[in-house]
Amino acid sequence: MASFSLKINGKKHQVDVDPSTPILWVLRDHLELTGTKYGCGIAQCGACTIHLNGNATRACQLPISAIGTNEITTIEGLSENADHPLQEAWIEHDVPQCGYCQAGQIMSAASLLKQNPNPSEDEIASAMHGNICRCGTYTRIKKAIQTAAQA
Ligand code: FES
Ligand code: FES
Repeated sequence: MASFSLKINGKKHQVDVDPSTPILWVLRDHLELTGTKYGCGIAQCGACTIHLNGNATRACQLPISAIGTNEITTIEGLSENADHPLQEAWIEHDVPQCGYCQAGQIMSAASLLKQNPNPSEDEIASAMHGNICRCGTYTRIKKAIQTAAQA
């Protein structure tokens, strides 16, 4: 066990865990931030996507010991009132089906728009290709990202 100080969604948190604990389990089990989902556990599906200093990162393969002073943002901290342009576009296009992959999808999309506010279709496809949706909502995800980019 070791003690770690984390900055998550603008707030400081202290946790005592094994240094090899993936940050996904720290978020979900220790801090009850369960918006970030567990899918594959091997950095292949994107369900666990969070931001590390604004960059989309897979939480399932990232040990807490690697976080250091980097700031974490989860879906709970993306916007204060769930009014990020992507969240509004997600509602407008009625994107989710079962919803399981959607927090990860939105976090990947938010990182994309931060780096590239007006992405082409190819750029959207390339940025989102690591986020798997077993329900097949890809077409609506793409439309929602395009809508959010124009907001
Ligand atoms: S659970 Fe992390 S990428 Fe699948
Ligand atoms: S909405 Fe069901 S997995 Fe994507």
